[in-house]
Amino acid sequence: MNSTLGIGLIGTGYMGKCHALAWTSVHAVFGTGPTPRLVHLAEVNGDIANKKAAEFGFAKATGNWRDLIADPEVDVVSVTTPNAFHAEMAIAALEAGKHVWCEKPMAVALADAERMAAAAKKSGKVAVLGYNYIQNPLIRHIETLLAEGAIGTVNHVRLEMDEDFMADPEALFYWKSVASSGYGALDDFGVHPLSLLLKLFGPVSRVFANLSKPYQDRPTQSGSRRAVETFDIASILFEIGAGISGVMALDRSAWGRKGRIALQIFGSKGTIVYDQERMNELQLYTVSDRPTEQGFRTILSAPHHAPYDRFIPAPGHGLGFNDLKIIECHELLNAIEGKPARIIDFDAGLVIERTVHAMAQSHHDKGWVSL
Ligand SMILES: NC(=O)c1ccc[n+]([C@@H]2O[C@H](COP(=O)([O-])OP(=O)(O)OC[C@H]3O[C@@H](n4cnc5c(N)ncnc54)[C@H](O)[C@@H]3O)[C@@H](O)[C@H]2O)c1
Repeated sequence: MNSTLGIGLIGTGYMGKCHALAWTSVHAVFGTGPTPRLVHLAEVNGDIANKKAAEFGFAKATGNWRDLIADPEVDVVSVTTPNAFHAEMAIAALEAGKHVWCEKPMAVALADAERMAAAAKKSGKVAVLGYNYIQNPLIRHIETLLAEGAIGTVNHVRLEMDEDFMADPEALFYWKSVASSGYGALDDFGVHPLSLLLKLFGPVSRVFANLSKPYQDRPTQSGSRRAVETFDIASILFEIGAGISGVMALDRSAWGRKGRIALQIFGSKGTIVYDQERMNELQLYTVSDRPTEQGFRTILSAPHHAPYDRFIPAPGHGLGFNDLKIIECHELLNAIEGKPARIIDFDAGLVIERTVHAMAQSHHDKGWVSL
């Protein structure tokens, strides 16, 4: 008999809606595991909470997230609030015996991320971070290609993550420009490419970073100007183990870039190229092709790239961003059921956080930092 799982959702913005959609769809898409019950939703006040609970289909609503944590009907808590709240909310949920699905980055301060990992370990509950890009069936396939040696020994990785939501110098100052939200592009943003590196190649061993601010101040709601406290651009050299050298460029003020996470993997026998802006295709070049036909071939996502088949039986039709969250949700359910799960848990998340803070230290010290 199928069991159910009580869901609590804190925050109903961009990611809150994405989690709500995933909780609503995961059973229909995968057909296995416990069926989520949308039990309790929390927002900054009761009015917003009631409105969003009605829209998303949650039974109860509160303007105080601690009510949701205290609710015995809630088994899993989705934390989708701004970065500064993650540690407090996730730790409270774990201490109350709930599983946690927390958005990235783990926390602003490394000490908080360490406390989160410790709380997860102590609770024995499942604690998963929102690193949805690792769930793309084509990223999984790149992992398979690398394991099979399709491009030989990897020696160089280039990663770029660019968006333009902060490209307008006159865009209003908001929480992502405040130092309490983190360093800027590096942790708000760069943690995603780092999650791909961790899954595909393992932990980064050495970093050299430079952070920069394209705009020194921004207008506020009241019409004054306020100094920007975060860095919207980061340029990083890195190494993985002894054999892979890498370059990473992060920019959330890059006009024209909408959701670029561009990955180039160069090996001794070929190259793999992927970009999240074209998330349903990858490019593969192999020297095993005849010289007369050597060139990049485009591979479209299809049912044989699991779990694409759970969504669509036809090749080339494409998955979307929200589908990655549904896959992530399914992996979280696998972990709760004690099955093998493709997740970034709080321990793996801590590896990413340590890398981010090493990059920030490198910027400060103007030199290489080893991990
Ligand atoms: N995984 C991804 O691809 C991805 C993408 C975007 C954002 N994020 C992360 O998701 C988190 C949220 O970002 P967002 O873009 O959804 O922000 P958002 O501003 O759209 O939503 C945040 C929501 O949290 C609510 N909130 C704030 N404080 C609260 C409190 N004390 N109690 C209850 N609700 C509260 C806000 O009212 C808002 O609805 C951030 O940590 C961000 O880094 C992840």
